[in-house]
Amino acid sequence: MITKTCICGAGTMGSGIAQICAQNGFDTILFDVNSEILKGADESIKHNLQYLVNKQKISPEEKEDIYQRIQFVNEINKCKADLIIEAVVENIDVKTDLFNQLAEVNNAEVIFATNTSSLSVSEIQKNILHPQRIIGMHFFNPAPLMKLVEIIKGEQTTDEVVQVIYTICNQINKTPVLCRDAPGFIVNRVARHYYLEAMKLIEDSIASVEDIDAVMEATGFKMGPFKLIDLIGMDINLSVSQSIYEASGKPERFKPSSIQTEKVKNGELGKKTGKGFYKYN
Ligand code: NAI
Repeated sequence: MITKTCICGAGTMGSGIAQICAQNGFDTILFDVNSEILKGADESIKHNLQYLVNKQKISPEEKEDIYQRIQFVNEINKCKADLIIEAVVENIDVKTDLFNQLAEVNNAEVIFATNTSSLSVSEIQKNILHPQRIIGMHFFNPAPLMKLVEIIKGEQTTDEVVQVIYTICNQINKTPVLCRDAPGFIVNRVARHYYLEAMKLIEDSIASVEDIDAVMEATGFKMGPFKLIDLIGMDINLSVSQSIYEASGKPERFKPSSIQTEKVKNGELGKKTGKGFYKYN
C-alpha cells in the first residue's frame, strides 16, 4: 500500500506534484539538489495553499496539515518512500543516475515513476535495477490544476504496477489515461505541431507572437502556443521537440525551431527566467 510519496526535482512540475500528493493525504518528501529551488518550492506551495484558503476551498487548519505533510530535503539518502516520482531535468542520463541512486536507498518493491515528457520509459528501464517497477506518470502543467495524467507502460513494467498507479491517480483526483511507450506519448505528439507551426509562422514573418496567441485563444484554445511555451519552459519544450524528432527518425515535420534553440542559448526560458516570447516582471 502506498502511504508515503517522494518527489525528486522541486522545479515547475515537482513542486506541484508534491503539493497534490500532500493535499490528498500522502506524507510527501520533496527532494532537490538545489537548495534555492527547494526554498522557492516551499514558498510557492505555501502561496498556493493560501490561495485555496482565500477561496475557501480549504480551511486554515487543513492548509497547515497539508504543509506539515511535506518534508523538504536535499539529501538523497532521505528519499525513502513507497512511490517515488521523478521530475528532474529532461535528460535520460540524469534520470537513470537518479533512479540508480534511489535504488540503493529503497527496497525492490518501491515504485519509480518518471514524469518525463518525451523520453522512452523502456530505454530508462534498460539500465536500472528491478526495471519492472518503473513506469511513466506524465502530469501536465500546472500540476495542481490539470486533471490528466498519461500512464506509460514500459516494455518491462508489470500490470500490477500499472494498476497501483491507476489507483494512486484516482486517489489524487487525476484522470489517468494509459498509453504505449512511443515518442511524445499522446498529448506531446499531437501538440508538437501547435508549437512548431506557430514558430514557423514567426520564422516566415507571417504574423506576430501576440496575434498568433490571440487568434488561437479566440478559436477556443485556453492558451496560445507562445504563452504556453513560456509557461512550460523554453528549454523543456525544446528538449521534448528534440527527443520526439530523434526518436521518430528525424522527419521534417518534427524538426525543432531555430528560434527556440536561439532563445534557450540566450537563457530566455520563459516565465521562470522572466523572459521568453514575452517579458515577465
Ligand atoms: P525544472 O527545470 O523546473 O525543474 C527541474 C529540477 O530538477 C530543478 O529544480 C533541478 O535542480 C532538479 N534536479 C536536476 N537534477 C537533479 C537530481 N539529480 N536530483 C534532484 N533534483 C535534480 O523542470 P520541470 O519543468 O519541472 O520539468 C521536470 C520534468 O517534468 C522533465 O522531465 C519535463 O520533461 C517534465 N515535464 C515538464 C512539464 C512542463 O510543463 N514544464 C510538463 C510535464 C512534464
